[in-house]
Amino acid sequence: MEKHIVLLPGDGIGPEVTKAARQVLQAVADRYQHTFTFESHDIGGAAIDQHGTPLPDDTVQAAKKADAIFLGAVGGPKWDQLPGHMRPEKGLLGIRKQLGLFANLRPVQAFQQLLHASPLKKEVVENSDLLIVRELTGGLYFGQPSERRNNGQEVVDTLAYERHEIERIVDQAFQSARVRRKHLTSVDKANVLESSRMWREIVEEKKADYPDVTVEHMLVDAAAMKLVTNPSYFDVMVTENMFGDILSDEASVLTGSLGMLPSASLNEQSVGLYEPVHGSAPDIAGQNKANPIASILSTAMMLKHSFGMEEEAEQVQTAVTGVLQEGYHTADIDLKNGVKVSGSELAAKIVDQISTSDATE
Ligand code: NAD
Ligand code: IPM
Ligand code: MN
Repeated sequence: MEKHIVLLPGDGIGPEVTKAARQVLQAVADRYQHTFTFESHDIGGAAIDQHGTPLPDDTVQAAKKADAIFLGAVGGPKWDQLPGHMRPEKGLLGIRKQLGLFANLRPVQAFQQLLHASPLKKEVVENSDLLIVRELTGGLYFGQPSERRNNGQEVVDTLAYERHEIERIVDQAFQSARVRRKHLTSVDKANVLESSRMWREIVEEKKADYPDVTVEHMLVDAAAMKLVTNPSYFDVMVTENMFGDILSDEASVLTGSLGMLPSASLNEQSVGLYEPVHGSAPDIAGQNKANPIASILSTAMMLKHSFGMEEEAEQVQTAVTGVLQEGYHTADIDLKNGVKVSGSELAAKIVDQISTSDATE
């Protein structure tokens, strides 16, 4: 198959992890006789520096024409003092909105090889395998108007949703649950927020369409606690934009590092944007320390969700597991044993496994 992939490396460790993602995709193309073409565009701080805006038109146009998009990360101290509408993060929010990428899938899987890397007890982490379905183009991130009033003494951020925006993410979550362990937890703050009460009503209405899925409601504060005390309780969690942002970084603790979590952001036409859950990690940028696994697993999601390449996706997953099995890991993974390597060395080992291991059935 021929596929055209737009790369948006961004800032900090973004370019490092994007390079790893590209190498993995190329290795998959070579092995399975696909042709993947790549085209890089600026976003975030890099785009501010080059074009004076975090999201140039060019980038949006190229992304719209791509078969899939990969994004590294945006942001960093260099641009932190810019006004809200000019920040690097606005580029990321803008591309999500302009492409209608409302469904953000964030799978959290505790790899057997890394159970001891989590600060949580092995017995707690073991068997956790959950999916956070985060609403990505509405809610608190996109409320209008977001502003300072009263000589800067008053501030307004709003949490707004239209019914159809909640319906489509809830449908997505039920569908995800259907092909997993069929248990959906809808996470909200219905004891306080009207938006959460409407969210709950919609989940209740929708559940009749998915009789094979068991569904429950959980308040976000309790969910945050349960996520680190009994994570294997969860299968699919669905939640509002900001709750999902916070819960997913929290959930990364189960895997041993934020550098392990991939994500897919999908729209109704299934043009997907794939990105690690982590940010630009300015504290380690440029030092070849970044864990490339979050990005590499994001390419596996791309292969599966955007290209329908199940076997290829499986091969990437197998290569990651294989390299962890051999004991290789980057410095963010807190393991006494094993072999600590740089980000590029780890990526090279994963690429090597994809290129040389026996074909999966
Ligand atoms: P961060 O996710 O960049 O980093 C948090 C911590 O995790 C840091 O100690 C970092 O070194 C570590 N870390 C993250 N990814 C890692 C990896 N792959 N390998 C090893 N260690 C890793 O969050 P932050 O420091 O709060 O934010 C930094 C910047 O990134 C901010 O400007 C923020 O807005 C931006 N950000 C961007 C995205 C994105 O582009 N999707 C996501 C989150 C944060
Ligand atoms: C993420 C990031 C972004 C978000 C920021 C950089 C806008 O934290 O992708 O999780 O909050 O969505
Ligand atoms: Mn985040």
